[in-house]
Amino acid sequence: MEKIIDESQQGTSLVLEQKTENTRKLFIESYGCSMNFSDSEIVAAILLKEGYNTTQNLEDADLVLVNTCSIRDKAEQTVRKRLEKYNAVKRINPKMKVGVLGCMAERLKSKLLEEEKIVDLVVGPDAYKDLPNLLSEVEDGRDAINVLLSKDETYGDISPVRLNSNGVSAFVSITRGCDNMCTFCVVPFTRGRERSRDPQSILEEVNDLWSKGYKEITLLGQNVDSYLWYGGGLKKDFEKASDIQKATAVNFAHLLELCAKTQPKMRIRFSTSNPQDLTLDVIETMAKYKNICDHIHLPVQSGSNRILMEMNRLHTREEYFELIDNIRRILPTCAISHDIIAGFPTETEQDHQDTLSLMEYVKYSFGYMFTYSERPGTLAARKMVDDVPEEVKKRRLDDIVQLQRQHSEIRTRAYLNSTVEVLIERESKKSKHEWSGRTSQNTVTVFPKEHYKIGDLVNVKVTDCTSATLIGEAIDYALD
Ligand code: 5AD
Ligand code: SF4
Repeated sequence: MEKIIDESQQGTSLVLEQKTENTRKLFIESYGCSMNFSDSEIVAAILLKEGYNTTQNLEDADLVLVNTCSIRDKAEQTVRKRLEKYNAVKRINPKMKVGVLGCMAERLKSKLLEEEKIVDLVVGPDAYKDLPNLLSEVEDGRDAINVLLSKDETYGDISPVRLNSNGVSAFVSITRGCDNMCTFCVVPFTRGRERSRDPQSILEEVNDLWSKGYKEITLLGQNVDSYLWYGGGLKKDFEKASDIQKATAVNFAHLLELCAKTQPKMRIRFSTSNPQDLTLDVIETMAKYKNICDHIHLPVQSGSNRILMEMNRLHTREEYFELIDNIRRILPTCAISHDIIAGFPTETEQDHQDTLSLMEYVKYSFGYMFTYSERPGTLAARKMVDDVPEEVKKRRLDDIVQLQRQHSEIRTRAYLNSTVEVLIERESKKSKHEWSGRTSQNTVTVFPKEHYKIGDLVNVKVTDCTSATLIGEAIDYALD
């Protein structure tokens, strides 16, 4: 199984049938990053109280919501195609209402209502609690919109409805927004300024998941390492906090430790890390607790110092190497993955070679690779010309993908004949006689089912591999 190369391809429908007295039907689907999938679970929880159960059938829906991604133009085009499909269904079911949520709602605002006649409702990522009011406007025959961004909304008080869940792994969102202002990125505009969620509510959610049988959580945020709880409010206002708030503040290393200690048998992952914010404290905390998984997703975007500066990435190639060296020293078995963009404005052949040589140094386990897509309103779009021809971007992307495939293979081959601990998540897509799960390093592993079941943690002897998958045989249950 190949790792996903373009996150915008991750769009699949999220569905759940609930058995309550609710009479109305909600069809909700999500595109883009994990945060969107997690947000849809919050939206489903809000609407459950409003009388909506979720349905897998678009044709049956009273309300269709699409949680959207704006990160690249292609992601937006995918959503526009879906709106065409909804339009076709609406001809059969004219009472059906359609809402657009997430980053496209925030970026395009009322333009969406003008451009896409099918859309009745536009709701930005911080306004989901307003959905009940907005829906009553829609029911009265008016279009409704709320795209206000918030200083403190984290949805920490909402218990998500787990959609499309395997009952084993779940997302727990810990921060919202991003203050980094990478020049290519639309996220700071669509998701607002950075704020963190109360650790108490995070721990309650983790405990609740454990009590329901979940075995693995992923702490989610655009920039998890910059997590900082000091009683609420924006990260940028921390300086204005009182002395007592500062003294009792909880940072990411501390939160990670709290989660690891609270549920010592729960596997803990986190994503995404930004190089300038990933501290030694976090790496050392990972080393201290066996239940914190051995994987860091550490986007680099480019290997060229000049391009990193143009991207406003706030670290150099050398600082990135130092961080990689520290990770390797403290966590020798840790897998590292990346995001890389090919063809950022002004990128030369030499800059591209610098990206390839950075990859050679790190030899990432896997990564997500993209061609640059100009996003309206970003600093890069305003100040730079998108001057790398599309075919050059594609060729450079291809070089990066090819090299990554070689490195992934080196990484998976290193596990041959060793024994790895795998948490079983689902049936393998290729064979109904095999389970599929992941190692602590996040490598997908498949092996014959035998008497094991979903949610078991098992030792697997690795006998074969592809560049993305380990293939083996279970030996016994892994003792924790
Ligand atoms: N063009 C291409 N890729 C982008 N990303 C973010 N913005 C853009 C863009 N304008 C990529 C980055 C980021 C990942 C989530 O998406 O690599 O880390
Ligand atoms: Fe976008 Fe950069 Fe923030 Fe990531 S860290 S969401 S790439 S601005």
